[in-house]
Amino acid sequence: MNTLDFITSVANRAVKNPAEVLVQVGQCSMAVGSQEIYRSLEEKLPASIAVDYSGCDGACFAGPKIHSEKDVSEYLEGIRVTSTGDSNVRNYIDSQTRIVLEHAGNISASDIYGYIANKGFSALANVLSQPPEQTVDMVEESGLRGRGGAYFPVSIKWRSAMSTASKERHIVINAEEGEPGVFKDRHVMESVPFRLIEGALIAAYATKATSIRLYVNAEAHLSYQRMLNALEICRSEGFLGPNIMGSGFTIDIEIIKGAGGYVCGEESTLLNTIEGKRREPRLRPPFPTESGLNQQPTIINNVETLCNLPWIVLNGADEFKKIGDSDTPGTKILSISGSVNTPGVAELPMGSNLAELMVKFGGISSINTLSAIAVGGPSSGVIPSSESLNLSIGPGFLDGKSVMLGAGGVIGLSQDTNVLEVVRKLSEYNAKESCGKCTPCREGTTRLLELMANDSGDDAIDWNGIGQLAEVINAASLCGLGQAAGNPVLSYGSYFQEVSPGSQGGGI
Ligand SMILES: Cc1cc2nc3c(=O)[nH]c(=O)nc-3n(C[C@H](O)[C@H](O)[C@H](O)COP(=O)(O)O)c2cc1C
Ligand code: SF4
Repeated sequence: MNTLDFITSVANRAVKNPAEVLVQVGQCSMAVGSQEIYRSLEEKLPASIAVDYSGCDGACFAGPKIHSEKDVSEYLEGIRVTSTGDSNVRNYIDSQTRIVLEHAGNISASDIYGYIANKGFSALANVLSQPPEQTVDMVEESGLRGRGGAYFPVSIKWRSAMSTASKERHIVINAEEGEPGVFKDRHVMESVPFRLIEGALIAAYATKATSIRLYVNAEAHLSYQRMLNALEICRSEGFLGPNIMGSGFTIDIEIIKGAGGYVCGEESTLLNTIEGKRREPRLRPPFPTESGLNQQPTIINNVETLCNLPWIVLNGADEFKKIGDSDTPGTKILSISGSVNTPGVAELPMGSNLAELMVKFGGISSINTLSAIAVGGPSSGVIPSSESLNLSIGPGFLDGKSVMLGAGGVIGLSQDTNVLEVVRKLSEYNAKESCGKCTPCREGTTRLLELMANDSGDDAIDWNGIGQLAEVINAASLCGLGQAAGNPVLSYGSYFQEVSPGSQGGGI
């Protein structure tokens, strides 16, 4: 039996049709009663109307939500719930370019047959029937870059690991997502868990990996449960374990709970914690692709990165390159929060204008309703909202100085927000999360806070000294946490201080 016939045979085993009523139960919507709505419908609906749960579609502002092909309003009396047919929700979803989030919220999060009915595992079937190198070539051709924050080309990382002679080669899926203001990987795992499994299997087959580990943030309980459940289903249906889809390819995915803390998302720290070692980064080189888990070559990829693979395989590299910008094709999932009217998760083409997307997907009347935007979390900085008019989302420093997109967290700050307080909070976070291994980060981040602690207002603060210290921390720290820990204060100096950088001998 070939792999496509295998899918058909599994689909034929489907004991029931996909549910006509889906309640979107995600970590956020649980806070506004989605789980209770699901339970209530399970009880009240007649046997002829099947109900199931999906993840959230990303229009978090409208939760709790229900996606239904039938009119079930009579069973929802007295319950506040939004239909996914609501014009605001439709507009929010339809204005996006959804690759990774395709089907998020409109297919069950636990029904593999529903996933298969939407072309699920067809990409893996194609990949398994061709030589591994062909998929690596396709990924190279697509120009896919990592979505965990560094935007490193995926095929280069893969080839680097493949060039080693080792018999063992590992894939680690980075689902740590400890950064404040970022909630997209959690969202992906809650909504389309089978897609992540399919993406990881494509990567494993293409790179001839011998093991896959999924490293999930220890507090992302729902993501963990959804993935655990999906892995179990895949095993029982022949999509994971020995002889996957009858192809002869054998591999499993081990799920691991993260050790806790922002620094655990840093790839070498993550590997240390899997090995039971201290929660601190390793010196590099060697890089994980040469010597990673158990000193063997290891490919670490972000959840969102891997979830692009099924789409690329099914639609081709050329179609992928038509989306986004020429240097970084494809989309980016943004976590939009703060002083906006419609907080949520939106997948948009790379190169989208920051101000325009804040207005459109943040549901604000004008970018001027915000004083500033905190982009990219504690490793990045804060820019005045007016600056966002000229910035587009993509890798590296968006403004050429101190503000990076990172994993895609964008937080709108209202006109009455004290931006200095925000910068203090970001710096405080870095100081708390510093693992303490190297002096510039351990001592420097604390000293930055002390220097900013002056309560008599920002005029009394020695911004020149702070700027110099921030630059030293960035330049001298050992890992990415410290190397970006100066960015919040550098951005404040660039945009919110009257004295601009360079005009006072290197101060900020
Ligand atoms: C302090 C710190 C935290 C990080 N946290 C994450 C994270 O939560 N998830 C992630 O995928 N990458 C994170 N990264 C980046 C990873 O080190 C690594 O670059 C990434 O997982 C590679 O995957 P990609 O190439 O698919 O983006 C972090 C980096 C640093 C320095
Ligand atoms: S930069 Fe900070 S987090 Fe990274 S090793 Fe040094 S002390 Fe630890």
